[in-house]
Amino acid sequence: MGNLKLEGKAALVTGAGRGIGRSVALQLAAQGARVVVNDLDADPAHAVVEEIRAAGGEAVACFGSVTANDFAERFIKTAVDHYQGIDIIVNNAGYTWDNVIQKMTDEQWYAILDCHLTAPFRILRAAQPVIRALHKAEAAEGRAVFRKVVNISSVAGLGGNAGQANYAVAKAGIAGLTKTLSKEWGRMLVNVNTVAYGFIRTRLTEVTEADTSVTIEGRDIKVGINPGLLKAIEASVPLGRGGTPEEAAGAVYLFCSPESNYISGQVVVCGGGILI
Ligand SMILES: NC(=O)c1ccc[n+]([C@@H]2O[C@H](COP(=O)([O-])OP(=O)(O)OC[C@H]3O[C@@H](n4cnc5c(N)ncnc54)[C@H](O)[C@@H]3O)[C@@H](O)[C@H]2O)c1
Repeated sequence: MGNLKLEGKAALVTGAGRGIGRSVALQLAAQGARVVVNDLDADPAHAVVEEIRAAGGEAVACFGSVTANDFAERFIKTAVDHYQGIDIIVNNAGYTWDNVIQKMTDEQWYAILDCHLTAPFRILRAAQPVIRALHKAEAAEGRAVFRKVVNISSVAGLGGNAGQANYAVAKAGIAGLTKTLSKEWGRMLVNVNTVAYGFIRTRLTEVTEADTSVTIEGRDIKVGINPGLLKAIEASVPLGRGGTPEEAAGAVYLFCSPESNYISGQVVVCGGGILI
């Protein structure tokens, strides 16, 4: 276990029960991080915790919606109680709830902003006093310890996407939060970056002939894309296909590794070569 890049680091990952978040949790754990696994759904989160433990790693679950009023404090407290600190935060939890603007309700607008923008803001706000105290103690000992925040965005947040005014605004906003915190937190040696995905094959984007929906916070939310759209999307990707969750997680891992200690405030597209 001696050569692992993230040995002993405490990593918090939201929406880690499935898809990209799950792969992020597994990759960070494989590099020695101890992971707080959040998901709205308890069963998949529990399964990821078990998978990490079965591989010899350390993980603990923190179930519940990132939009709950008490979530941020509970999430941070879980890390502090179990792992005595915070080293990595990955704001990944999310879903899409699309409509063209004339049909988009206030409920739809706020639900997506709450999940993709307000929740990361609250989590990072709750983390600040813990990080400040840890940094102060480390600085007093003459130790330089870098911490990592990786926010998750989308090409929809950079270039817009028809039918996604709510999502595109939330994902554009996360880039502003990233840049601002990189300026506020540089003095505490925190690297704050964003990964904006193109097309990654997960539940969010699975190919379905018929309409498929999932329940998120008591609402039926349509997921998936039709086969025709899949062909068109893949044809627009220079690498010729959608990315796997493992490939998506690799971009987050880059920003969590010591090699990125002098990179902050950046938005990197992980999209198989698509340019915005
Ligand atoms: N898949 C893509 O092509 C793509 C593209 C761009 C951006 N993204 C972003 O990547 C992130 C992960 O998406 P994915 O493709 O892995 O989707 P996914 O549906 O496979 O996984 C998302 C996970 O987040 C959880 N989640 C949803 N709302 C939550 C909430 N309020 N609180 C806690 N957990 C919640 C879900 O239960 C699910 O397990 C999202 O932020 C998404 O917007 C994905």
